[in-house]
Amino acid sequence: MTSKLASLNQWVDEVAALTTPEKIHWCDGSEAENQALVELMLERGDLIELNQDTHPGCYLHRSDPKDVARVEKLTLVCHPNREDAGPNNQWMAPDEANAKIDALFEGCMKGRTMYVVPYCMGPIGSPIARCGVEITDSPYVVANMRIMTRMGKAAQERIEREGSFVKGLHSTGELDPERRWIMHFPEELSIKSYGSGYGGNALLGKKCHALRIASHQARTEGWLAEHMLIVGIENPQGQIHYVAAAFPSACGKTNLAMLIPPEGYRNNGWKIWTVGDDICWMTPGEDGRLWAINPEAGYFGVAPGTSAKTNPNALAMLDRNAIFTNVAVTADMQPWWEGLPDGKPVKDWQGRDVDPANGPAAHPNSRFTVSASQCPSWSPEAESSQGVPISAIVFGGRRQSLVPLVFEARDWTHGVLVGASMASETTAAATGQVGVVRRDPMAMKPFCGYNFADYFAHWLSFDTPDAKLPKIFHVNWFRKNADGKFLWPGFGENMRVLEWMLKRVTGQAEGVASPIGTLPADGELNLDGLGLDDDAVAELFAVDRDGWRDEMVAIGEYLDSYGDRMPAALKAERQRVADALDAAEAAP
Ligand code: GTP
Ligand code: MN
Ligand code: MN
Repeated sequence: MTSKLASLNQWVDEVAALTTPEKIHWCDGSEAENQALVELMLERGDLIELNQDTHPGCYLHRSDPKDVARVEKLTLVCHPNREDAGPNNQWMAPDEANAKIDALFEGCMKGRTMYVVPYCMGPIGSPIARCGVEITDSPYVVANMRIMTRMGKAAQERIEREGSFVKGLHSTGELDPERRWIMHFPEELSIKSYGSGYGGNALLGKKCHALRIASHQARTEGWLAEHMLIVGIENPQGQIHYVAAAFPSACGKTNLAMLIPPEGYRNNGWKIWTVGDDICWMTPGEDGRLWAINPEAGYFGVAPGTSAKTNPNALAMLDRNAIFTNVAVTADMQPWWEGLPDGKPVKDWQGRDVDPANGPAAHPNSRFTVSASQCPSWSPEAESSQGVPISAIVFGGRRQSLVPLVFEARDWTHGVLVGASMASETTAAATGQVGVVRRDPMAMKPFCGYNFADYFAHWLSFDTPDAKLPKIFHVNWFRKNADGKFLWPGFGENMRVLEWMLKRVTGQAEGVASPIGTLPADGELNLDGLGLDDDAVAELFAVDRDGWRDEMVAIGEYLDSYGDRMPAALKAERQRVADALDAAEAAP
């Protein structure tokens, strides 16, 4: 099979001439094709069969031990002009970058099959959706792309109708960290990734296309491509409000997206609907509201910490048709990771006998890949071509001190500042040190395909007279007490914070103003039955004036580091908050 689209055939021919594969396989996305790939991978040892009685259709993939996370240092955004990539990105001139990586691709698929994978990010019929084609020599990538995107025949037909697509070229190469690049060419709508088989580096529809390339397209076309979950919250009256939330990697998006409300809420008729857990494309509708789609069709979620207690919906979808990457296994070949109360791991993520001296049995960034429709709280609106209207945007990070449980921005400009000043402790989702606080504006530090100063300006530009913009909030589930324990129970109990946000959206809560934003007034946020002592409650909602003044200085330095390109409106907004802190008599 080839394509009706000459430009697609021509590109495939060029890539084949460069990489010299033995065979070319055009993926149609069928069940039969998937079965054949699974059998091939079992034969080659790329996949290991898990217990088919307890976990039908589930397989384990063990990656190279040096290839377990995104590598930000080797991830480049290659605009012709360095300034357009911004200090937030690694940059190389496009000609130099293309030459460098093409030299690695030369002959790299010799003796192997080259897979041509047409995919659509978003519902096939949606005008907001965008298509791409990934060429890869990894059957593991093909199997994951089939779960994570609308992959195959229908996507190819849409590409042939539209005539344009994002080109993604991937090879696992030698898996040598010294010969590894993940390069983006936004002006060419092209991605080239060599030397890694890890999710974010290799499943090019996800971070590479749906965030880095798409954010650049979104800027030029007037929409937003964000690292956000989308969740629907149904109240006892049966109304559903949709909330989009940006937290950095491994900071709770997948958990919040499929939260199960506490029993009291469930009994009153509250329900949660999952639209997306990682990426959100938002576009202004004719009614002035922002409408959002989840461009993905599956979840690539963090396994450790996922349990019947923390995320029962995730656990419920992981007993069938899932690919596990770098988890441990029990004696009877069931998948296992830290945080599961039952089961005993016997082989760790590298296939060694479990030995605590080797660290956790499952890699801290071990993941599951599973179809979104298997989630018990999956929303039928996830297939809607116009998307869902967004009532609130939430920013959040992992901050053990300073940042209160929840506050609301005064208006859109303040909300953009709140997003732009986000900071969070680093996690195992990227290589490097864990637990260091770094600025991660809108959780997009690793994913924004252009200069952050331009990105903030783009966000500010949505504030037009006809716009009916969502309210913007900030949350922190991760504040700790002096003993290092989390002050807030989190997970399902986060429903209480969502409820307060919706009360604000619908005008049912007054809130109380503070220099950093609006906090819940006494009694507005339901804390019944949590057993929190007064000190914990006071700390969760405290605004430490001196601490925040220092934070505003740090934020000022951060904004200034972008020079004149940083929007003046954002700098002025920071000054306004700093002045309000100075003027405040004492913390509320
Ligand atoms: P990516 O998929 O990498 O973008 O990350 P994510 O934002 O989806 O992260 P995920 O939901 O998988 O959260 C990962 C970690 O956050 C796990 O260790 C969870 O246990 C922890 N976590 C999630 N929600 C909460 C919460 O409300 N409170 C606390 N204390 N931990 C949480
Ligand atoms: Mn993510
Ligand atoms: Mn996630």
